[in-house]
Amino acid sequence: MSSYIQHNFSLPKLTGISEKTNEEHLKLYAGYVKNTNEILGSIKDLSIDPAKNAYVLGELSRRFAFEFNGMKNHEYYFHSFEGGHTEPNIESNLYKAIVQTWGSFDAWMESFILLAKTRGVGWAILYYDKDTNQLLNTWVDEQHLGHLNSCQYIVGIDMWEHAFVADYQPSGKADYIKDYFANLNWNHPESLFEKSL
Ligand SMILES: [Fe+2]
Repeated sequence: MSSYIQHNFSLPKLTGISEKTNEEHLKLYAGYVKNTNEILGSIKDLSIDPAKNAYVLGELSRRFAFEFNGMKNHEYYFHSFEGGHTEPNIESNLYKAIVQTWGSFDAWMESFILLAKTRGVGWAILYYDKDTNQLLNTWVDEQHLGHLNSCQYIVGIDMWEHAFVADYQPSGKADYIKDYFANLNWNHPESLFEKSL
């Protein structure tokens, strides 16, 4: 069985999001990687006697999607800052697809911001569904509840309080979301979209 590797991210100085927040946030990310590997190892060990360990195996299997998606969500999130901010490329296929779907880039941004401000703990994510060639905004509760099966993650924002409260206070969601996009390097979502076509 392969282990998942903890990634190192080359983060630039970010607008609004402090180095301290990133430092603490990366520790949470490291926990998701560690727990993903530990759960896989435990499932393997306990599967030697599946009848005896059925209850624990069931609970670990339920827990796995939380840890695995927590790991992946954070990898996309931190990677999206690498290289520093760039504006979206209006010639890119992603930009054109967003305009085609929502009528304008600003209309998409408005709907995405509204989604990100959803009350609760989770992620606002833009996905691409290759089967129907359409982009979809969705909300994922916690780390794992609501991912769209077979769709490609394009861009997402961590709306857990640990991502923004220290820098923005609980009432500062709107500023945090604005700064997320002020820090986003659009080359990353554009490249994820290209690869999924
Ligand atoms: Fe997070």
